[in-house]
Amino acid sequence: MAHILVTGVAGFIGSHTADLMLAAGHRVTGVDNFRTGHRANLENAFAQPGFVFREMDVTAPGALREAVDAARPDAIVHLAALVSVQESIANPELNYELNVRASHLVAEAARQGGVPRVVFASSAAIYGDNPELPLREQADKQPISPYGAAKLASEALLLGHAAAFGLTVRCQRYFNVFGPRQDPASPYSGVISIFERRYRAGQPVTIHGDGRQTRDFISVRDVARANMIAATVPGLASGVANICTGRETTLLSICEEFRRHFPAAPPPIHGAPRTGDIARSVGAPEQATAALGFQAEISIAEGIADLIRGG
Ligand code: UD1
Repeated sequence: MAHILVTGVAGFIGSHTADLMLAAGHRVTGVDNFRTGHRANLENAFAQPGFVFREMDVTAPGALREAVDAARPDAIVHLAALVSVQESIANPELNYELNVRASHLVAEAARQGGVPRVVFASSAAIYGDNPELPLREQADKQPISPYGAAKLASEALLLGHAAAFGLTVRCQRYFNVFGPRQDPASPYSGVISIFERRYRAGQPVTIHGDGRQTRDFISVRDVARANMIAATVPGLASGVANICTGRETTLLSICEEFRRHFPAAPPPIHGAPRTGDIARSVGAPEQATAALGFQAEISIAEGIADLIRGG
């Protein structure tokens, strides 16, 4: 069994990753500063004997080094981040601090603390609106936000450390992740989290445009499993992989799926398309299968049922 340090453990993806690792018998040291994470997400983790929590900011001087020295983990899963694309546009300096400098600090803490492996939360945002679908890892990187640019820069920083210092670095390019604990608070939150809240409240959802736009929606439980594999399976080589399903789903079919659970819901309202919206997005999942042995298993129908059940 391994001991994993998870940064951003109180976040949406972090808390599911910790829960899954603990259930599999691994030990987890989790760190979070609760900037966007929530203590409530850790309710299950706190009940497990293999869980240790440190409230800290990964960019505070010496903080990561101290956490690494105390835990002596087998891997770091670095999920702490500024997670909102919109916030990266409003505050590029903070985006740099939390999405670039923090990644460098993780790479350095791993090198200096002798941690052999780092798993990094990258994003499909590095591809921007590259139209060559499905998006393969070698596709042109055309980030259209400071957020996407920072994720791309972080991949380069971490892989540079991997090559120079012999760490194993796995960059996980998540597509549109959805599931329980995703925060629906902002109009720019993940669309499925917004829709779930509105269907549950009996309010109409707003579809920006005709609803035929597509995304590659992946359940957070599949993403957590991809993180656990990348952190714990022995003998992996460094590299990047899309964490996606390879399935393209329209917003209209997401609405249909919700209607099966909320048949009395009012019909969606169609608003103007969102500025800068991408018409279609889907990833090629083969590289994750080849490099990690990972394949998404949860269908949209199962994922939405899971979200409605909560947990
Ligand atoms: C992602 C980012 C978003 C960013 C955008 C552009 C996430 C969760 N979102 O958006 O912050 O601005 O890239 O870089 O990372 N939609 C509706 N109704 C709603 C909400 C959304 O119709 O109430 C539509 C959107 O217009 C879009 C689709 O749903 O067409 C998916 O939206 P979203 O979940 O924000 O994902 P991305 O568009 O991939």
